[in-house]
Amino acid sequence: MIYDSCWLTSKIGLTDFEVRGETPIAETINEELNFINEIGQKTELIGAKKVIFSSLKNLSDTEKLRFDSFEINDEGYIIKDTDDALYVVGVQDKGVLYGMFHLLRLLAQKSELVGIELIESPYNGIRMLNHWDNMDEKDFMGSVERGYAGNSIFFESCAIVKDKSRIKEYARLLASIGINSVSINNVNVHALESKLITKEFLPEVSEIAGIFRKYGVTLFLSINYASPITLGGMKTSDPLNEDVKAWWKKQLAEVYDFIPDFGGVVVKADSEGRPGPFTYGRTHADGANMLAEALAPHGGLVFWRCFVYNCQQDWRDRKTDRARAAYDHFMPLDGTFLDNIVLQIKNGPIDFQVREPLSPLFGGMTKTNQILEFQVTQEYLGHSKDVCFLIPQWKEYFDFDTYAKGTGSTINKIANGSLYGRQHSGVVAVANIGNDLNWTGHKLAQANFFGYGRLIWNPSLTADEIATEWIRLTFGNDAKVLETIKSMLLDSWVTYEKYTAPLSVGFMVQPHLHYGVNIDGYEYSKWGTYHFADCNGIGVDRTKATGTGYTHQYFEPNAKNYENIETCPDELLLFFHFVPYTHVLQSGKTLIQHIYDTHFEGTQDVENFIKKWDELEDLIDAASFTNVQNRLQQQLDNAKEWRDQINTYFYRKSGIEDAHGRKIY
Ligand code: GCU
Repeated sequence: MIYDSCWLTSKIGLTDFEVRGETPIAETINEELNFINEIGQKTELIGAKKVIFSSLKNLSDTEKLRFDSFEINDEGYIIKDTDDALYVVGVQDKGVLYGMFHLLRLLAQKSELVGIELIESPYNGIRMLNHWDNMDEKDFMGSVERGYAGNSIFFESCAIVKDKSRIKEYARLLASIGINSVSINNVNVHALESKLITKEFLPEVSEIAGIFRKYGVTLFLSINYASPITLGGMKTSDPLNEDVKAWWKKQLAEVYDFIPDFGGVVVKADSEGRPGPFTYGRTHADGANMLAEALAPHGGLVFWRCFVYNCQQDWRDRKTDRARAAYDHFMPLDGTFLDNIVLQIKNGPIDFQVREPLSPLFGGMTKTNQILEFQVTQEYLGHSKDVCFLIPQWKEYFDFDTYAKGTGSTINKIANGSLYGRQHSGVVAVANIGNDLNWTGHKLAQANFFGYGRLIWNPSLTADEIATEWIRLTFGNDAKVLETIKSMLLDSWVTYEKYTAPLSVGFMVQPHLHYGVNIDGYEYSKWGTYHFADCNGIGVDRTKATGTGYTHQYFEPNAKNYENIETCPDELLLFFHFVPYTHVLQSGKTLIQHIYDTHFEGTQDVENFIKKWDELEDLIDAASFTNVQNRLQQQLDNAKEWRDQINTYFYRKSGIEDAHGRKIY
C-alpha cells in the first residue's frame, strides 16, 4: 500500500554524505538518506561537497573548534557550510536527525546553502501528540475518538496491528517536524486498553516503542485510574491505600522491564465519568502523586489532565459555570504536586471551540509543571470536511499576555516553562491522523499536523511562513499554487468562525457528533454549555458584578477588560456577557447585524474557496485536487445550513430585520 508521503515528497537526496556514530538514531539518519537516494535523483550539493552528520562528541578536535561558539540545547542542531564540508551537528544524534530533516526541507525548497550557518534549538521541551485511539468495545473497535481520517494505525480488531510498517512511516513524519513524545491510546481508557501496561500487550507495545525510539520519539500510555480494581482484582483504587500504591509500583516497573525509556502515563481522572481519586474523598494531587511516586525511580512523568468539570449539570442552575471548573479544582492544589507531574491544560476553559479565552490556570499556577493542550483533530472545527488551518488560532493563543508576572507574561513563556522556571513543560495536542491513505482525511488538514510540529518547535514562525513551507514541500514551488492555497489556508479559521456560533458563544453543534448546526442542541442538556438566547439577547454573564464571577480568575488588566462590556474584545463578547441584540460592538455594528453579516460572508468565503481551488486543476496531483474539491462542496452545504439556521433563529428571537434585506427564512 502506498501512503501519502505528505510534506516528505521531495526526492532530492545527497551525493556524498557521512553519518558518524552508532546509535539507533544515527542508523536512522543513514537509512533515511539512503532511502531518498534510492528513490531520488541525488543532488549536487554546493559543488559536490560532502555532508557530515555528527553529534559533537564524534567530531575531531579541530572540527570541534568550528562549533565552539554556538549555543544549542540537547535537541538542537547547527547546519554550517565550511571550506571542505557541510556539517549537520547536534549535541545528540536526535538533534542531528532534526537537522537532517531541516536540510532536506531546504533542498526541497531549493534554498541557498552556500555559506549557510543555521542554529536551531526547540523552544518547547515536550512536543507531544496524544492519540485518542481505541482497541476495545464493539462501537469503538479500532476507531479513533474524534478522529476523521479513518481508523487507528496502532490497533485493529481488539489487538495491536500486526503489520507495523505504517507506524514507522508515522515516526518519520513525527521526527521530520520535531515531535518527541506520543501517547498511543485514548484518554478514555476502556477495558482492553487498560491492559496495555500488562504482559499481555507489553511485548508488542515495546515493539512500537522501538520503532519510535529510532526516530527520537518517546512512548507514553493513557492509563485507567481504576486499574488496581479492574486488573489487580482489588476492592479499591484509593491513592492513599498502601496496597494500591504497591500495585502501581509493581505494574509500572513491569512496563519498564519491557520499555526502559518509557515516557510515563497520561491520566483523565474524575472527568466525564472516568474513575479518579474523588471516589475516595481524595484530591487530584493525592491521585497524581501516587502515580508519580511509582514512576519516579524510572524517570517517568505523569500527565494529569485538568479537564475536570461537572458533566451532570442541571441547565436550570445558572450559578454553576463550567468555565470556572478547572481553576476552582486545581488552583488550591498549586504546589502540592510532585516534580514529575505535569498538569495538562486545554487551551480554553471549555473545550476546543472555534475561539475561547485562554484558560486562567496558565499563569495562575506558579508552582506546578504545566503543559498546554491543543486539538489538531478538528472536533469542533469542521471534522476534516471543512478546511480550517489552525496555526493562526494557536499563534494568537501563544501570544496572549496573562500579565501573571507583569507585561510580557505570555502563554508562550508559560508553556515552555521559562516564566516560572519549570522543569517539565511544553505543548501537547490531540492528533488528527488515522489510517486513511492521506493520513488526515482532508489533504489540507496535513498542514495542521505539519504546522503544529513546526510552530511548537519555533513559535516565532508566522502562520504565513508555516503555510508557505508546507505548500512548497507538499505541492512544489509553483507560484500560483502557493498563493492560492496560502490565501485559502490563512483565511480559513476566520471563515469557519464567521458561519458558525457567533462571538465565542460556543457549541450550537449537533450533540455528540459536534459537526453541523443545532442551535439548541445542548441548551437543555447536562453538559454546561449554554448560550441563553431569548428575545432580549444572547450570551453568558460571567462577570463578577452580576454573573458567575469567572472574569476574576484572570490577572489585571485582563479581568477588568473582560468584566466591562465596553472593553471586552468583540470576538469574546458572548463568552463573557449576556448582550442585547441592539448593543453596538466595537466594530460599530449592532450585535444582530454582526450575526447576519458574518453568516452571509462566511458562506461567500467558501464559495470563493471553491472558485480558487478549481483553478488549480492542472497544477497539482489529481488525488489531492479531487479530495479537496469534494470536501469544499460539503463545506459549502454545511456553511449554508449554519447561515440559514443561525440567521433565521436570531431573526425570530429578535424580530429585527437585516439592514441589507437579504433572504432570511
Ligand atoms: C471532549 C470530547 C471527548 C473527549 C474529551 C476529553 O469532551 O468531546 O471526546 O474525551 O473532550 O478531552 O477528554
